[in-house]
Amino acid sequence: MAKLQRIKVVDVMATPSLVSQEINVKGWVRSRRGNKNVSFIALNDGSTINNLQIVVDLSVFSEEALKPVTTGACISVIGQLVESQGKGQTVELIAKELEVYGTADPDVYPLQKKGHSLEYLREIAHLRPRTNTFGAVFRIRHNMAIAIHQFFHERGFFYFHTPIVTASDCEGAGQMFQVTTMNLYDLKKDETGSIDYSNDFFGKQASLTVSGQLEGELAAMALGSIYTFGPTFRAENSNTPRHLAEFWMIEPEVAFNEIEENMQLAEDFIKYCIQWALDNCKDDLNFLASMYDKELLERLNFVIGNEFVRLPYTQGIEILEAAVAKGRKFEFPIFWGADLASEHERYLVEEHFKKPVILTDYPKEIKSFYMKQNDDGKTVRAMDVLFPKIGEIIGGSQREESYEKLTRRAQEMGVPEKDIWWYLDTRRFGTAPHSGFGLGFERLLLFVTGMTNIRDVIPFPRTPKNAEF
Ligand code: 4AD
Ligand code: MG
Repeated sequence: MAKLQRIKVVDVMATPSLVSQEINVKGWVRSRRGNKNVSFIALNDGSTINNLQIVVDLSVFSEEALKPVTTGACISVIGQLVESQGKGQTVELIAKELEVYGTADPDVYPLQKKGHSLEYLREIAHLRPRTNTFGAVFRIRHNMAIAIHQFFHERGFFYFHTPIVTASDCEGAGQMFQVTTMNLYDLKKDETGSIDYSNDFFGKQASLTVSGQLEGELAAMALGSIYTFGPTFRAENSNTPRHLAEFWMIEPEVAFNEIEENMQLAEDFIKYCIQWALDNCKDDLNFLASMYDKELLERLNFVIGNEFVRLPYTQGIEILEAAVAKGRKFEFPIFWGADLASEHERYLVEEHFKKPVILTDYPKEIKSFYMKQNDDGKTVRAMDVLFPKIGEIIGGSQREESYEKLTRRAQEMGVPEKDIWWYLDTRRFGTAPHSGFGLGFERLLLFVTGMTNIRDVIPFPRTPKNAEF
């Protein structure tokens, strides 16, 4: 095969001057159809959801030569790019040379027909990126990561890397995966029956982090405005469409921000990401809208165009209690002090306000030890951003900056001082008001793509009883 610089399909379609030129494209066969005179190959190389149509003249190529060119095969084609005669594409490639890199036996290649269920595609997660749906989702996922870095970079935030292995439980929920090199078949215990971790790899009990926040706060007390963006792990046994055991979180932390500025940052941040998707992922969003969710673009534009409601938890409970009094049924009981279930969050957002809601000032009992205590002695300066279809998409707070109050609350909540002495030190040395929040990356992706199961917006989902691939 003659040597020619390969061009990506996305560039082929965006470069009108290539028409009538000879070019080389490489990719995977989505389908092949035709008659005894001509064969049409739909070629996709992942650079865009759009396929390039390859036209193969069967007076030039033999039917035999085309036999291995079946759905899933990988090929390289050289030919002349021409304006398309048919409907559905603007350009097509008249094949001159065709090389098959890899065949895909039609009898066993699992992605034959269109319209496989999302459940089935999860079982072949190693191949599902080759479908239109997952190509679109993963290109959008990439774009959202870029948008996030761009948003913070433009505002002078520094990307700060927090550890994945940790000895402290930030959220205090006891949902951590342990990290050990000890021989589980031969665990040594002391007289009291406890495991002696002094011989373990880290010399103490270690786990995968549930959040980078605590270390993020250390950085904010030095660099001013930082954000983390990394994997986080939770061993919560909730098999819901919104929970993963391994997910990615973005956690900005800002010195001198109080809760109001924290809320504004969260609102601006989400709107920026959604606008980015609308500006940069048009073809993929249109595809997902047409396939799964006719109202997707409307919903994205709606969120950008409306102020988020700001509402204290106590008023949220009053609204929910009033709804119950009027006969609205919920699975879980609602009362002051209850942690809101997703059905309650969605009622406020989808039925009552019909807008995203930032709920603030939650009862201290249902929130983490580090949140700033309000003067009422009952609530803390927490803020959860609640979204249509999703429920909680962001959780954050103003942080308790008083050393005494923070230490007392940690004690009350059973957070061992020996695990967080370094965190408490920030309040001993040059403490300052500060705030931050965590955005669940996959929850954002659920909203932006319109997919309904969180397993379908991360390449290889980790959930209870599932770590395949
Ligand atoms: O509300 P969470 O637990 O807050 C924190 O971890 C804080 N340390 C954040 C901070 O203030 N820096 O989690 C934050 C977000 C949630 O709002 C949700 O979007 C997402 O992380 N999240 C999950 N996403 C997928 N699967 C799970 N199991 C999740 N748990 C939380
Ligand atoms: Mg939360």
